[in-house]
Amino acid sequence: MLNIENLVLTVSDPETGAETEILHGNSFALAQGEALGLVGESGSGKSMTLKCILGIEPSGARVDGRIELDGTDLLASSGEQLRRIRANDLALIAQNPHGALNPVLPVSRFLVEGMSDARTMSRADAEAKAAELLHQVGITDTERVLRSYPHQLSGGMLQRVVIAGAISGSPKLLLADEPTTALDVTTQAEVVAILDEMRREHGLSMIFVTHDLDLAAAVCDRLAVMKDGEILEIGTPEQIRDHPETEYTRALMAARPMLYPAGHPAQEEGAHAAGAAGRPGSGDANDEEAGA
Ligand SMILES: Nc1ncnc2c1ncn2[C@@H]1O[C@H](COP(=O)(O)OP(=O)(O)O)[C@@H](O)[C@H]1O
Ligand SMILES: [Mg+2]
Repeated sequence: MLNIENLVLTVSDPETGAETEILHGNSFALAQGEALGLVGESGSGKSMTLKCILGIEPSGARVDGRIELDGTDLLASSGEQLRRIRANDLALIAQNPHGALNPVLPVSRFLVEGMSDARTMSRADAEAKAAELLHQVGITDTERVLRSYPHQLSGGMLQRVVIAGAISGSPKLLLADEPTTALDVTTQAEVVAILDEMRREHGLSMIFVTHDLDLAAAVCDRLAVMKDGEILEIGTPEQIRDHPETEYTRALMAARPMLYPAGHPAQEEGAHAAGAAGRPGSGDANDEEAGA
């Protein structure tokens, strides 16, 4: 459904005009319903790759290559056509959910405004649909959450609201950029589980960006390992684990011993670096309170 060929992103310094190549000709494809993990350390170009797909690269930047979504070349599309495709087919879930919500409007307004059929619905129907969306992402006290303003809800609760809003637009492709990095570890696991469930239930494709190879392996069908603006290798989590092609991938793995049984060479090399990272079980979405 998504086919990216030879993607090059070049930014230029507004003062000197000096050009820097940020992405160096990356190619990958995504099948319908597939989840691809884009994994790499900070600064490796993961977010910029998503920005190129969304058409929100830095001003003055140049994007070369091909980004084809269900047969439409997004780079060749006009502004209006690209705007329509972005609005209908793509949904971004970013690290900080506050950025997605207007701080002076209640959650109900955010959800209702995101509904493609809001104009043809009565207010009561729209609110009922908003409550149903919240139910789908594990929120049970929907009345309270709908009436709340963003600052009154925890990060985990807000990220659920953002996911609900993304689903309501019936996108084809979810772009999740470190969607759980800003959350505490228990909430992280819950939000990942919800994202995964929504993706499967709605048959969505997803690009899941993270620096956490272990997390990506748990969520994704395939992983693309990025370093310095380049995709080094792409494979299933098993392929990446059993036959890493680069030292860099081995180092990323070594930092996360959870994925690898005791005695695995990758673990012994770097077990000290990782600490006791665990994947907690899921809890009740409604336990957490505001102010987290
Ligand atoms: N607005 C910008 N203008 C120019 N370069 C940028 C901008 N934002 C990020 N970069 C550079 O692009 C590279 C990739 O960044 P990014 O995609 O944000 O990395 P990641 O998401 O993997 O941490 C980095 O070297 C970063 O310094
Ligand atoms: Mg990033």
